[in-house]
Amino acid sequence: MKSRLSAIENRKMSENDFMRLGKFIEDEFGIKMPSSKKLMLQSRLQKRLRDLGHTTFQEYVNFIFSKQGKDEILLMIDEVTTNKTEFFREPEQFNFLLEVVLPELADKKRNDAKFFNIWSAGCSTGEEPYSIAMTVSEFLEHHHDFDYEILATDLSRKVLQHARLAIYSKKQIAFIKMQLRKKYLLKSKLQQDEVVRIVPEIRAKVKFRQHNLMAKENFMDRTFDIIFCRNVIIYFDQETQIELFRKFYKHLAPGGFLFLGHSETMINCGLSFEMVRPKVYRKA
Ligand SMILES: C[S@@+](CC[C@H](N)C(=O)[O-])C[C@H]1O[C@@H](n2cnc3c(N)ncnc32)[C@H](O)[C@@H]1O
Repeated sequence: MKSRLSAIENRKMSENDFMRLGKFIEDEFGIKMPSSKKLMLQSRLQKRLRDLGHTTFQEYVNFIFSKQGKDEILLMIDEVTTNKTEFFREPEQFNFLLEVVLPELADKKRNDAKFFNIWSAGCSTGEEPYSIAMTVSEFLEHHHDFDYEILATDLSRKVLQHARLAIYSKKQIAFIKMQLRKKYLLKSKLQQDEVVRIVPEIRAKVKFRQHNLMAKENFMDRTFDIIFCRNVIIYFDQETQIELFRKFYKHLAPGGFLFLGHSETMINCGLSFEMVRPKVYRKA
């Protein structure tokens, strides 16, 4: 009993371990790690230490930085990221997408490929890209000659696994309008299962991929008409945010739109973006 208690006692993170791990997380993934996050990090990583049988954080941090610890980095980051999301989060943005953005882009593409390329960056468990897909599908009911694809990326493999499955509880779908639920959700055949699944037609439009927004290499050579990156940059410092805006600018087609989250604003960074409504920007 005594040795167990002392093992638990040992699972406190020293200032030094926090500095090493925190700096690594900031440098590699952009997520700010001020000292106020030490307790959060300590508590979120307890399970990793337990699963690996490490009794101290020093052991765990040394393991992360060792050759054998490479795979652990992604499991660690699964615990560190904050993945809160919901269907049709900030619903007025989806109305704006349907009523303003898609008609404007469709008009511009009259003599061009009738295709919308969309990127949901920091897609978490899939609610955001599936909400976009339902919205675009609604638009396509009156624009049959158009098609679309959504690339949905996140750092965390755990959330992507959930997103690909596309199974959600009744509580999670509360913000989807009844009319859309009828079209785009499948009920479980088992009465006792209180879950639904996104219909295959919508699932087929969303391609999930693991991607670190901080990665320097060019991860794709295509441009997008619309990029959603909402409630992600809030975790990054200013310098990292500017780097990301540059990345989005490069990957947006001229006249393309960038959607940010409710508490995020584009810092003046010399890029020709114009604000078309709060938190929505158009590349000039
Ligand atoms: C709070 S969720 C936001 C989900 C969704 N965009 C929304 O607004 O509902 C933030 C997501 O960003 C992801 N994220 C954080 N840092 C990232 C990075 N460096 N690269 C890619 N995704 C990252 C997290 O894993 C998390 O799933």
